[in-house]
Amino acid sequence: MGFNSVFRSDLFDGHVSIVTGGGSGIGRCIAHELASLGTTVILSGRKPEKLETVKAEIADAGGKADFITCNIRDEDAVKALFAQALERHGRVDHLVNNAGGQFMSTVDSISLKGWKAVIETNLTGTFLMCREAKRAWMGKHGGAIVNIVADFWNGMPMMAHTSAARAGVANLTKSCALSWSPNGIRINSVAPGIIKSSGLKNYPPPVISMLRELKKEIPAKRYGTEAEVSGAVTFLLSPAASYINGITMAIDGASSLYRQLTPVPNHDNMPEWNGFHLIADIPDGV
Ligand code: ADE
Repeated sequence: MGFNSVFRSDLFDGHVSIVTGGGSGIGRCIAHELASLGTTVILSGRKPEKLETVKAEIADAGGKADFITCNIRDEDAVKALFAQALERHGRVDHLVNNAGGQFMSTVDSISLKGWKAVIETNLTGTFLMCREAKRAWMGKHGGAIVNIVADFWNGMPMMAHTSAARAGVANLTKSCALSWSPNGIRINSVAPGIIKSSGLKNYPPPVISMLRELKKEIPAKRYGTEAEVSGAVTFLLSPAASYINGITMAIDGASSLYRQLTPVPNHDNMPEWNGFHLIADIPDGV
């Protein structure tokens, strides 16, 4: 049994799609869905073992996949990725920038080294991938790019570096959409909320129990699935999204409309200022 996509099975016949971070989690799911729709998926990531496994899974399901290792922080490696992809497959119609990484920390505990590493992977790496996609192929032939960001809208107090980087990617998405419309390139982002994916397994038990509590604060009253992110990515890559360019689409069960998922502890350190001499007499306890 292959991927159960809601999209037509020949939607991307003859296409070639690069998916970074395709060896696990949401990237693996996206790679499977795109392959199930006829495209040749080029899985990219730093670890060949995981990419090889997903390539075999896709082949088992009757799809076409290849893999090319690449550290997206390395400009030469990114150039080599596109050169190899074009040499082997002749075109690159889609780019899904899913690779990323971060660690949990309070803002004041983040070292400069840690900050730079997260910004380099999530923001600079995504920039390099977009730029090379344009230079190597899409600038002449058009194409579609989707960046996977995060629920950064109200800040992420325990992952401020990735939140800043992802907000940067959402803004980069707009600049690229404006700059590259004449090239026939569409570029959009998707911002997943809490998704039931293998990435969740990387969190320590206290974070897992906090996430369990937070489920109550998601209007959908559940986490999202990898397939719900993948479906949105597929739609944005498809011709049905031909008039959608430069947006960041939340895939989060409305959690970003609701409340900050990181609780603020009780305190008394924000004294009010009141200079108004005719202040209304509001009773205590309101
Ligand atoms: N996944 C996480 N970090 C990455 C990187 N620097 N390059 C490619 N894939 C990644």
